[in-house]
Amino acid sequence: KRVGVLISGRGSNLVSLIEAARAPDFPAEIVLVLSNKADAGGLQRAGDAGIATHVISHKGLSREAFDEAMVAALREAGVDIVCNAGFMRLHSAVFVRAWHGRQLNIHPSLLPSFRGLHPQQRAIDAGARIAGATVHFVSEEMDAGPIIAQGAVPLLPTDDEDALSARILAMEHRVYPLALRLVASGAARLEGERVVFADDAP
Ligand code: GRF
Repeated sequence: KRVGVLISGRGSNLVSLIEAARAPDFPAEIVLVLSNKADAGGLQRAGDAGIATHVISHKGLSREAFDEAMVAALREAGVDIVCNAGFMRLHSAVFVRAWHGRQLNIHPSLLPSFRGLHPQQRAIDAGARIAGATVHFVSEEMDAGPIIAQGAVPLLPTDDEDALSARILAMEHRVYPLALRLVASGAARLEGERVVFADDAP
């Protein structure tokens, strides 16, 4: 399967996917990295790995026009699966429909808790004792699509936002490659509103 990764920033999850995809048995290849920001650190990481990059600035474009430009770039690269990795723009309904069952996102909380911004600080504020990362299929509602994989980490009494975010990020780097492997191999697929797993899926 051919994968396009959408980023807006440093791209550490992108790097975890690039590294996982180097395994000879990995069922997906990253063929394009798209960013809405020209200064996203992840673009350099992709270039270093020999992966094509493309910047489409959202400035001055309507959400629909921006998403149309992204769909065009992804189609041109023959992308089958889209992975959002720290991509900080909401997708239009048209974009979500274009990749139904073929678009993943990672969120630094144990969904359905703490959708949206600053989930790590909100987990601390809520007094949660466990936090984590979730990879889910993208649906029209933000951070609300069917869950593919999750990883939990402890939330320690001494944690501030940075400490917890770092612990969650390390888990993100494990769980995103796993989820992409599941989807790209067909071991996990979207059926209606549910994820169906093959009998031998982990
Ligand atoms: C990650 O925590 C991701 O879950 C969130 O934004 C952050 C992106 O980090 N959506 P990176 O760009 O992958 O390093």
